[in-house]
Amino acid sequence: MYMYCFPGVKRYGLAMTDENPQSPLPTGLRIGDIPPDFEARSTIGPIQLSQYRERWLILFSHPADFTPVCTTEFVELARRAEEFEARECALMALSVDSLFSHFAWLRMIRDRFDVEVRFPIVEDPTLVIGRALGMVAPTDNDSATVRTTFFIDPAGVIRAMTCYPASMGRSIPEMLRMLDALQAIDAQGGLAPANWHPGDPLLKLPSQDLDEVFGAKDAADWFLRETGKGKTK
Ligand code: BEZ
Repeated sequence: MYMYCFPGVKRYGLAMTDENPQSPLPTGLRIGDIPPDFEARSTIGPIQLSQYRERWLILFSHPADFTPVCTTEFVELARRAEEFEARECALMALSVDSLFSHFAWLRMIRDRFDVEVRFPIVEDPTLVIGRALGMVAPTDNDSATVRTTFFIDPAGVIRAMTCYPASMGRSIPEMLRMLDALQAIDAQGGLAPANWHPGDPLLKLPSQDLDEVFGAKDAADWFLRETGKGKTK
């Protein structure tokens, strides 16, 4: 366990496991990786990343509390939290700000926007988690450049990731669409084409058989074919 701590205070940090032999400081995560486990303080109490196995998880970093774009993202996510729950997907936010800053920000959001953010926001004051997850460059001294999102499946594997600049807020409908697409791909075994939305057909995997290529009804039909329907929401 890689830890940052104060005397007499519960130790939080990154776990080095067989799954994450390169912990605690991998240089960056990619699709298909299992992120290193961590334990940290959050707005709903101490949490451990590995506790979120068996369900989908969207883990996302934001540059700072009390900033305009981040506030709009959290208001919108809180307003649509039930839509993530309906997809059996948990939300977990992370930033460099302290737990008490998170609390004050959530109180302000509740009072000003009439919505309670109930999903956890992790504190990462030393950037140790953000660095380990590749959300912050190893040499960065602050997190003001990052708006990273990981879509993590029930096996703990990163299935998709996005990175937006601090100047641009994420699209919550797009986060839901990505989650729907990943879940439909798993359920149907197909591929999601451009602009796919729930209810649209998925695509079949392309043939790897030359006889099927020559036997297809036209020049595209061996590699570009629709399959069953995606998950309807
Ligand atoms: C924002 O969320 O508005 C923001 C965060 C960091 C830098 C600039 C803007």
